[in-house]
Amino acid sequence: MSENIIARAEQITKVYPGTVALNKVDFNIYEGKVNVLIGENGAGKSTLMKILAGVEQATSGRIILKGQEIKPRNPRDAEELGIGIIYQELNLFPNLNVSENIFISHERTVGGLVIDHRSQENKAKELLKRLEQPINPKTLVSNLRIGQQQIVEIAKVLALEVQILIMDEPTSALSNAEVEVLFRVIRELKAQGVSIVYISHKLEELMQIGDYITILRDGNLIAEAPMEGIDLKWIVDNMVGRDASKIYEPAAHDIGKVILSVRNLTLPAPHGKDNILDDVSLDLREGEIVGLYGLMGAGRTELFECLMGLHPYYATEMTLDGKKLRSHVVSNRIEQGIMLVPEDRQREGLVQTLSIHDNMILASLQRYLARLLSLNTKKEKDAVGQYVHDLSIKLSNTRNLISSLSGGNQQKVVVGKALLTNPRVLLMDEPTRGIDVGAKEEIFNIMVQLAQQGLGILFVSTELKEVLAISDRIVVMSKGRVIREFNRDEATEQALVEASAVGHGVDVAQ
Ligand SMILES: Nc1ncnc2c1ncn2[C@@H]1O[C@H](COP(=O)(O)OP(=O)(O)OP(=O)(O)O)[C@@H](O)[C@H]1O
Ligand SMILES: [Mg+2]
Repeated sequence: MSENIIARAEQITKVYPGTVALNKVDFNIYEGKVNVLIGENGAGKSTLMKILAGVEQATSGRIILKGQEIKPRNPRDAEELGIGIIYQELNLFPNLNVSENIFISHERTVGGLVIDHRSQENKAKELLKRLEQPINPKTLVSNLRIGQQQIVEIAKVLALEVQILIMDEPTSALSNAEVEVLFRVIRELKAQGVSIVYISHKLEELMQIGDYITILRDGNLIAEAPMEGIDLKWIVDNMVGRDASKIYEPAAHDIGKVILSVRNLTLPAPHGKDNILDDVSLDLREGEIVGLYGLMGAGRTELFECLMGLHPYYATEMTLDGKKLRSHVVSNRIEQGIMLVPEDRQREGLVQTLSIHDNMILASLQRYLARLLSLNTKKEKDAVGQYVHDLSIKLSNTRNLISSLSGGNQQKVVVGKALLTNPRVLLMDEPTRGIDVGAKEEIFNIMVQLAQQGLGILFVSTELKEVLAISDRIVVMSKGRVIREFNRDEATEQALVEASAVGHGVDVAQ
């Protein structure tokens, strides 16, 4: 290849107890180019990147940087060699502010002793401006939405000014507009000669930003090629090892009577600005899958949170199976039959220090779940085993720590956990975040099966194609209001996008 290879991983093998995560993998990093790395959940992408960034050490194999073998023992070593990484899972301290997080362990000091907050905040401001995020550097990270936290992670690595930048699913929680900004920054970095590795499950995104593509499957290198001339089908075929290009067709399911009914739900903003939710009315029927579509700030997550009993909202009606949902206590809502698959699996979905098994049976919201299920150990084990099987969760033992699972497989555990509460209504906030194309279909199949059993499912996705593929009905929200509802057969990409932009300076003729 004529291009300059700045760094190269040679014959990397990584063995964990019970798992060969990587098997003699070669990987190239090209000077001033983007090599996108793709593969199914658990294929070994993050592991390979952690080895390059000094977080993990290979069982065997070498890393060559500019012709010399390097052996980074920790991320600090790697940074000194000019290699930086944005981790797949957010790594911020919620109790510190944005600029403190950006400079954590690289504090700028006055005379080597006192932290120079002014200088850090100025630099943080400059980085956030470059990323077009007007966040005050003094804001506590816990007050940021998850997409903004992801942007802080990006700012953190930009502050290091590295030569090789590894991005492990940097856009999984970003809006389309934010992705565009990141892509502009990536192009600028390339122009400055920075070499980039980019991991994502959003295939269109990869094709847009990649100069090269590398595909892993089950820890093996399957293909590497220049992006030019490559199509989606080639990528998917290589990734999953079978023809997976067909469009998802949900199986038939009957739709019955209304289970969940909401009228005039209003959530005021804390400081008297526009309402966060404004007069939202909506029904969900037995066996129905309803997609909620909208841009960032449309109020989808807040709607879910109100349905779970959070926030001081008003509504003239909120009933489940005809019974009023009065209590504002989450555990009561779960007991009444509503369950949420949260968007932020790290903070709300999983307890990293517990095993896969324990995470599944514990609703982290409240520990009462074990009682609610009143399962004995044997039943519990069977139930967990069943979902591990149904959701094809790739693991060696359910007693291992949840953190030993790949990101996508952790997401499946969150879904499994919600299903174990036996809900009537399932609220799913970005259920396929970080999930590979093949496994997405598995999640869709599960959603349809649940609908066939009579559950009502309300789900949020920023991916239009997903919303169109699986929804019986689509509700479009903008700025806290329901703008329009579409039946499956009348919804098109364009109509959804137009409706979601109402109130953003675009009006739509109905
Ligand atoms: N600390 C660990 N202990 C044991 N097994 C691990 C550990 N970390 C990763 N693995 C295993 O290594 C394999 C590869 O995981 P990896 O996180 O690299 O996948 P990935 O390609 O990044 O997947 P995803 O798309 O879901 O993020 C998986 O089977 C995973 O369970
Ligand atoms: Mg990963």
